[in-house]
Amino acid sequence: MDLSELRGKYIEAVAGAADEAALEEVRIAALGKKGEISARMATLGKMDPEERKAAGAMLNLLKDEIDAALRARKAALADAALDERLKSEWLDVTLPGRPRRAGSIHPVSQVMDELTAIFADMGFSVAEGPQIESDWYNFDALNIPPEHPARQEHDTFFMHRAAGDNRPPHVLRTHTSPVQIRAMTEQGAPIRVIAPGRVYRMDMDQTHTPMFHQVEGLAIDRDISMANLKWCLEEFCRAFFEVDKVELRFRASHFPFTEPSAEVDIRYSNVGGQLKIGEGDKWMEILGSGMVHPKVLQAAGVNPDEWQGFAFGMGIDRIAMLKYGIPDLRAFFEADLRWLRHYGFAALDLPNLPSGLSR
Ligand code: DAH
Repeated sequence: MDLSELRGKYIEAVAGAADEAALEEVRIAALGKKGEISARMATLGKMDPEERKAAGAMLNLLKDEIDAALRARKAALADAALDERLKSEWLDVTLPGRPRRAGSIHPVSQVMDELTAIFADMGFSVAEGPQIESDWYNFDALNIPPEHPARQEHDTFFMHRAAGDNRPPHVLRTHTSPVQIRAMTEQGAPIRVIAPGRVYRMDMDQTHTPMFHQVEGLAIDRDISMANLKWCLEEFCRAFFEVDKVELRFRASHFPFTEPSAEVDIRYSNVGGQLKIGEGDKWMEILGSGMVHPKVLQAAGVNPDEWQGFAFGMGIDRIAMLKYGIPDLRAFFEADLRWLRHYGFAALDLPNLPSGLSR
C-alpha cells in the first residue's frame, strides 16, 4: 500500500467514525505504538540516508495530517453532542412563572405576635422553658405538693422512665407557670416577663384540645400589687381587642401558686355567631391570676420579704377565638388548608402597635 492509499484509508475512517470511541480506535490503528503509520516509521532505519530523508518527511506529513483530521473530527463530534443535549434540554425561558400559593400565618402565631408586641410595650420581655418539664418545675416549685388535688385536676401526660429508674417521671408541661420559676431563677428580681407557649392536658371536646397555648405573665418588684395586675390586664385587653371599652370581671378563686387569686372573665355578646367584646351579657373566662405565693418566690431563690408581684396565665387560643370569631377550637389543629386560608394572616404584616395590630 503506498502512502496515498494509506492516507485515503485513514482520512475516510476518521470521517466515518460515529463517536469518540470509534475515533479512538482509528487513532490507535494509525498512530498508536503498534499502528500502521508507526510501523512504517520503524522501517526508516533500514533505508539508506537519501531514501530515509524523503520517506521520513512524507511519513511525518501524513502523520500530522491524520492527527489533524482526528482532532477536527473529535471537536465536531463534541459540538454535535452539545447540540443534541441543547435540543433535548430545551427550555422556554420566556414562559410566565407558576404562581406560588402564598402561605399564611396561623391565628395562634398571629395572636402570639400581637400579645408580645403589647406586653413588650409595657416593658415585659419574653422567657421560655421546655415543653417536657420536670415535675418539680411543673408542680412542686409552684407549691403543688404530690398529694395536692391540682395534680390530678391537670390531667397530666407523663413521660416514660427506664425500668428500674424510680425518680418521678417528667411531664408534658400542663401550664406555662413553670417558666415563672425558670425565669426568676435565671434573672432574679426585679423581673417582668411573659412566656407564651404550648401546654398539654388529657382533654378533648369543642373547647378543649390535648395541646393548647397559654401565655404566662410575671411582674416582680418591691411594691407591685393587685391594682397593677388589674391595670395591666385591662390595658392589654383594650390594645389586643382593639376596642376602647372592655369590661373585665375579677372573681375570687384559688391557685396554689398565688395568694390571693382571681379568675378573670371578659364581657362579650354573641349575636348570630358574631362575637363582640365589651358589650352584651356573656362572660368568657380568659385567665387565672394572683399575687405570687411567697413559697413560689422562695423556690426560685427570690426573697419574699423583699420582693412581691403578680402572675397570670391566659389561654391564647381562647382570646384568638374571641378576637377573630372562630367558633371551634379543634379546627385550630386540624391543618385544614381551607380553614388556614380563611382565618390566616398575611405573612409580612408583622403586628405592631403604631400601625395597628391586625389590619
Ligand atoms: N397555671 C394556671 C392554669 O394553667 C393558670 C394561672 C393561674 C397562671 C394563676 C398564673 C396564675 O400565673 O397566677 O390553669
